[in-house]
Amino acid sequence: MSDVTDTKKKSMKGLAVVVLVVVLVLPLGPCQGALQDGYCKGKCGSTDVEDTIKNVVLSKFNQDRSIVAALLRMQFHDCFVKGCDASILLDGSSSEKAAIPNLSVRGYDIIDEAKAALEKACPGVVSCADIIIAATRDAVSFSGGERYEIQTGRKDGLVSQASNVNLPSPSISVSDSIAAFAKKGLTTEDMVLLLGGHTVGVAHCSLFQDRLYNYQGTGQRDPNMSLLLAVTLSLRCPKNASVDNTANLDQNPLSALVVDNDYYKQLLLRRGVLQIDQALAMDARTRPTVASLASRSDFTSQFAEAMVKLGAVEVLTDEQGQIRRSCRSVN
Ligand code: HEM
Repeated sequence: MSDVTDTKKKSMKGLAVVVLVVVLVLPLGPCQGALQDGYCKGKCGSTDVEDTIKNVVLSKFNQDRSIVAALLRMQFHDCFVKGCDASILLDGSSSEKAAIPNLSVRGYDIIDEAKAALEKACPGVVSCADIIIAATRDAVSFSGGERYEIQTGRKDGLVSQASNVNLPSPSISVSDSIAAFAKKGLTTEDMVLLLGGHTVGVAHCSLFQDRLYNYQGTGQRDPNMSLLLAVTLSLRCPKNASVDNTANLDQNPLSALVVDNDYYKQLLLRRGVLQIDQALAMDARTRPTVASLASRSDFTSQFAEAMVKLGAVEVLTDEQGQIRRSCRSVN
């Protein structure tokens, strides 16, 4: 009888030790596991992880408002290729970074700076993949967008190959684009909302010049582009220019740096810069969403929801990834 009581007492003691270890160790463990709202909270000692990232982004934003576009595009290019695993950040002559669509991706220095601050405060705790998502959210919120709650707990990937980069081209059809987003678990509506990322930022002339001078080999401009826009863009992008200039994706100069629904208004006026942008306003499957977003005031909250969905694409679980110490190389 007393043997049984002893064993019970011992196992209770054992349980108490386990509980204590879990309580003491877990809050200091890495921000990993299933995605959760505010999962990094309390995991970096007295340092607030999300605030640390926000401060870095704010100081960069104060120097250069175009970082909003840079980070939005970075999140898209990271999440669409092997999931949101920071594979876009790995250096290497044949890593994702070196793939053609990624050559104009910017903002790596922002992630490096945030990572350095966090490594100083709590080494090996916050993944680079989470930093991309948090930094993008902050940038969006500084430029008119909503400060949405993000989920954290991503791990960083170990693989980054340029040959894996299969990002949509600017002349992708609406059908192919719908299919590409569907493959990532995103609906047609999500796609229209996420392309709203083109409410900020620029595109190089080389990526839409065909629409000005030789649309689909016709020797004419794209009939879906307003004449006024075609004339304006051709001044920025002369036919045989030796320099590849850029033009704002949102052609309202007053809101080209603001996260708002003006992009959709421009599409309805046939003032979309990329072929796929304009196609959204022409296709029966996407036009109703474009029209509705152009006339409603809740784009920023809907965009926020779509960004959270994008941030959940093919996220790595514990065993498949790591928390990198430098975002540019695997440990
Ligand atoms: C079918 C999907 C998409 C296509 C074909 C596409 C294509 C492009 C192209 C061709 C550029 C210009 C790049 C350059 O000139 O170097 C661009 C820029 C940009 N894209 Fe997209 N994009 C797509 C979806 C998205 C999504 C989902 C987001 C974000 C949520 C996004 C955000 C941006 C931003 C912010 C820029 C401007 C970047 C800067 O100023 O540095 N795009 N996109």
